[in-house]
Amino acid sequence: MQRSEFSYPGLKDIVSISDFKKQDLEWFLEKAEKIDKIPKKEKLNMLEGFTVALLFFEPSTRTKLSFETAAKNLGASTIGFDSAIGTSMQKGESLHDTIKTVERYADIIVMRNKLEGSARFAAEISKRPIINAGDGANQHPTQTLLDLYTIKKAFGKIDKLKIALMGDLRYGRTVHSLSLALRFFNVEQYYISPKTLEMPSYIKELVSEKNKVVELNSLEDVIDELDLIYCTRIQKERFADPMEYEKVKKSYTLTAELLTKGKESLKVMHPLPRVNELDYNIDRTKYALYFEQLQNGVPVRQAILLWASNVKKVLKMEEKERIQLQAIKNGTAIDHIEAGKALKLLEVLDIPEHISKGIAMNVESKKLGRKDLVFIDNFELSQKDFAKIGLVSKNATINIIKDHKVVKKIKAEIPSVAVGIIKCMNPNCITNHEKIETKFYIFKGENIKAKCHYCERFLNEEEIFWSIK
Ligand code: CP
Repeated sequence: MQRSEFSYPGLKDIVSISDFKKQDLEWFLEKAEKIDKIPKKEKLNMLEGFTVALLFFEPSTRTKLSFETAAKNLGASTIGFDSAIGTSMQKGESLHDTIKTVERYADIIVMRNKLEGSARFAAEISKRPIINAGDGANQHPTQTLLDLYTIKKAFGKIDKLKIALMGDLRYGRTVHSLSLALRFFNVEQYYISPKTLEMPSYIKELVSEKNKVVELNSLEDVIDELDLIYCTRIQKERFADPMEYEKVKKSYTLTAELLTKGKESLKVMHPLPRVNELDYNIDRTKYALYFEQLQNGVPVRQAILLWASNVKKVLKMEEKERIQLQAIKNGTAIDHIEAGKALKLLEVLDIPEHISKGIAMNVESKKLGRKDLVFIDNFELSQKDFAKIGLVSKNATINIIKDHKVVKKIKAEIPSVAVGIIKCMNPNCITNHEKIETKFYIFKGENIKAKCHYCERFLNEEEIFWSIK
């Protein structure tokens, strides 16, 4: 086996399952299978001379140790830490500088961090491939690869299975990634959770486009139909209010007795650790697949490290979108602003204090019934301001005025990408913790939506309006 066999173009980092196509997933599963067939004692020294950094800012047993085992099985050396304690982050160092330091010591960086989008950010600034080992409640893509591998190994297929994802679907990153990955296969997904811990709607919507998705509060309603139950722990550490955790912490427990109501071939997976949702009496039954599952982490992560060792990254500065604005000599009038929105527009437009501005509110309009207007003297709006106008009031028109005459009319447009304009509402998003320009992808259907490039959360139209800065 040669290291070059693990060269695979396309992906440069493993950040989110949303970046994968079906063939990417299948490629990793096929490579892991190949490695898994090699006898344990046979040392593969394909990564001799390579250094793998294991940066774990959050606790881990399986992910960290299976990556470490994988690296050592391949002859690589490892460096890293298990918590920010003891690193210079305690002295106030940023994640940015931590990554820019580690990229000079290591060839591959595996990182777990509580901030959502931290892996995306690290991938953008790192010259080395970044492997996301869990970013807060967002994603855990390498867990998903080993989960898919385990399903395929146990059932001989992934298609045509009925799979329940049970537990904390709101904060559980493993189920977020897994549910998104399963949409590439012909499966039925059953989401079983307490009401307050339901799957985020943006995932539900994406998955429902491809799979049959059924939401339930009780496993017993469906257990006799299922092939697989993927059980998860309630993520105590993600709750902002400890009382909310207390309310749901004992809402379900899977027992061997309950499983006898299912099919003979029913299997149970769990990413582990468990607390009280998965009874120990299941461990020695035919249902338990979770110990094989964690063991599969090693060949899967060997395939991932071998792939990463072939990645060549070229960092490119993001091209900033610029609309060439006509030179404005005498001023701008923004017309057809939805009534009530002019004050917000004045608040967010980047106009220096010394420039004089005027406002007209709730004036009659043939087109809109009522409208607002904003007047700006002797000032050229930037591309960012144009994007803000489109996002605040999509029907606005921008009139360029010269010598008291409108010399140009521009229709406001909603940008397809908004950079540095919208503040992410997710307090755990990396953009709320590091000095990074926010970036949102705008979906312009009947109801406008925006997706954070980093933490992948969606904002609806109202949330976008209030988050424009
Ligand atoms: N499955 C998983 O991520 O386990 P650890 O938290 O122990 O790494």
